[in-house]
Amino acid sequence: MANGPDEELVSLVASAQELLRWEEALGGNGFPAVVDVRAARGYHTRLQMLASEAAECTRCELHRTRTKSVFARGTCDTDLVFVGEGPGFHEDQQGLPFVGRAGQLLDRMIAAMGYDRDGVYICNVVKCRAPENRTPLPTEAIACAHFLVPQLEAVSPKVIVALGRCAAENLRCVPPSGKWRGIWGEWHDIPVMPTYHPAFLLRSPQFKKPVWEDLQEVLRKLNREVPKR
Ligand code: URA
Repeated sequence: MANGPDEELVSLVASAQELLRWEEALGGNGFPAVVDVRAARGYHTRLQMLASEAAECTRCELHRTRTKSVFARGTCDTDLVFVGEGPGFHEDQQGLPFVGRAGQLLDRMIAAMGYDRDGVYICNVVKCRAPENRTPLPTEAIACAHFLVPQLEAVSPKVIVALGRCAAENLRCVPPSGKWRGIWGEWHDIPVMPTYHPAFLLRSPQFKKPVWEDLQEVLRKLNREVPKR
């Protein structure tokens, strides 16, 4: 990501804070308000601009049938990102990812990991619903990488969980062997854990155990407490 100007801003704010601390030490009023140096980096703004652009996007045919584009939910100040395939019916209606039944299961998985529902960042490979919830075409996923790539770069988590094969493929984490679930991959130097999609788990609950093992691996990578369950 071209973050030169962002870094200049961070350094300017840091210098201003330093000066004001001096001023305060010398008996002045100091800084009138808390300045969030991280917010000054501008990545919140970058994500807001990308979300507005996605709302108007016509880069692929999926825009013709969407109700709302679905950019992300959660917080960008997190060490953990989940990437799904693309919005379904409820997501398309509400403009938010993973709000249907699969989303409720994902929320339970996130809670089991010890995170707040809104303490992670959740997005999809494509931002618009595909007709009949079909898997996005490679051309659609490539068009939407215009959003996914800067989105993941801006959040810059410590770990990405790829939900389902489509997400794993688009993060280039399906090895030639074809065995992809539970095998660490990497996207732009960020570790990626590909696991089964919660919609698949709703149909095939017997696979919840391996998914939980994958999520435990993720917690170990993040140096977080690993609940047994
Ligand atoms: N499935 C996905 O892959 N993403 C959503 O947002 C909802 C269901």
